[in-house]
Amino acid sequence: MKHRDLSEADPEVHKALKNEIERQESESLEMIASENFVPKQVLQAQGSVLTNKYAEGYPGNRYYAGCEHHDRVENLARERACEIFDADHANVQPHSGSQANFAAYFSQLEAGDKILGPVLSHGGHLTHGHGVNFSGDLFNFETYGINDETERFEKEDVMEAAKEHNPDLIVCGYSAYPREIDFEMFRDVADEVGSLLMCDIAHISGLVAAGEHPNPFPQCDIVTTTTHKSIRGARGGMILCKEEFADDVDSAVFPYSQGGPLMHQIAGKAVCLKEAQKSEFKDYAEQIKKNTKALAEGLREEGLKMVSGGTDNHLVLVDLRDEEVSGKEAEEALEEADIVVNKNAVPYDPKPPMVTSGIRIGAPALTTRGMEEEELSEIGEMIGKIVKNPEDEGLKSEIQERVSELLDDFPLYEDSDVEI
Ligand SMILES: Cc1ncc(COP(=O)(O)O)c(C=O)c1O
Repeated sequence: MKHRDLSEADPEVHKALKNEIERQESESLEMIASENFVPKQVLQAQGSVLTNKYAEGYPGNRYYAGCEHHDRVENLARERACEIFDADHANVQPHSGSQANFAAYFSQLEAGDKILGPVLSHGGHLTHGHGVNFSGDLFNFETYGINDETERFEKEDVMEAAKEHNPDLIVCGYSAYPREIDFEMFRDVADEVGSLLMCDIAHISGLVAAGEHPNPFPQCDIVTTTTHKSIRGARGGMILCKEEFADDVDSAVFPYSQGGPLMHQIAGKAVCLKEAQKSEFKDYAEQIKKNTKALAEGLREEGLKMVSGGTDNHLVLVDLRDEEVSGKEAEEALEEADIVVNKNAVPYDPKPPMVTSGIRIGAPALTTRGMEEEELSEIGEMIGKIVKNPEDEGLKSEIQERVSELLDDFPLYEDSDVEI
């Protein structure tokens, strides 16, 4: 086999990768709440020779020989995950957050069983029961919604829905909910109706790991997460659970729903979990929350409304129902000014999902770049100005220039960090 440099072996892919490094480094402010930038050590682990091996099974019990070093890596990831989240057991093999949810549901339920999850436009994810997704297709999903007045999930509403539907499992944990999750409240409801309780901490796992959001254990029975959002690691998923669910969780991942694990990704997960145990990560997570509050302040300054009036975590959900722009138009106008956010439904959104009346904005990625409250509050104001004046080309150019300065002032990678 001939080894060649990628630039020589495949100039087209090489060029696309170079362009993407450039885009991430210096072309826009990345404010999609589910995205982040991983450190070099995670990139190194992901790009490693662990990709060469089949390791079906679990450490010490593989279907293939030669897994000694893979066992070591997977055990490190599992041990670190259990320590961080105070879980009895961790399965680090799910290829994604969706795969983690698939396996978590099937570890305890059969097709047709009843699950109570959030109304999707109130912050849930497709895997929480949407009809276009396996979850809505295979399970009998019923929903609880956000409270009309507080725009938060309140006990009375969740309890009412649980008593009405008598679910086998309740799901909490969201994609677009700006407030802390009250695990004790959900446990009380689950106990009242004799249901299992699962939390999907895909978005907030970095905050939880750092103690900046309450931990879902011991109240929850099973916890799923992605490993690439606020926890800033390799793209993938993970399931954490109490001991009594461990065997069922493991067999629901492999052999029920996946084949060979992506061991290079598992190495990336192990590395990010080690990072998450450091005091710098605690500072990072604390700063994410301060930055998101500063962002909300800037938006408020420009007269924008936010769902629930603000934020306790890493994101805000701007409610555009009183504005002239839709979520789609706001997203496009902001992109023209090099600020990247996503359109997002707000509770009781009158507009269709591809248009929406909201934008979701998150601070994890800019916090990774080193920005602090001063920058985030200024960016909040810039976003507010564009949302109020989406056609103002002069304003967009002015903001583009300021964005470019900010990107220069807060560099992301050195060339040697992302050498390809
Ligand atoms: C709450 C939640 N769960 C699950 C997922 C799915 O993760 P993935 O895209 O890795 O399948 C997401 C992704 O955005 C999410 O926000």
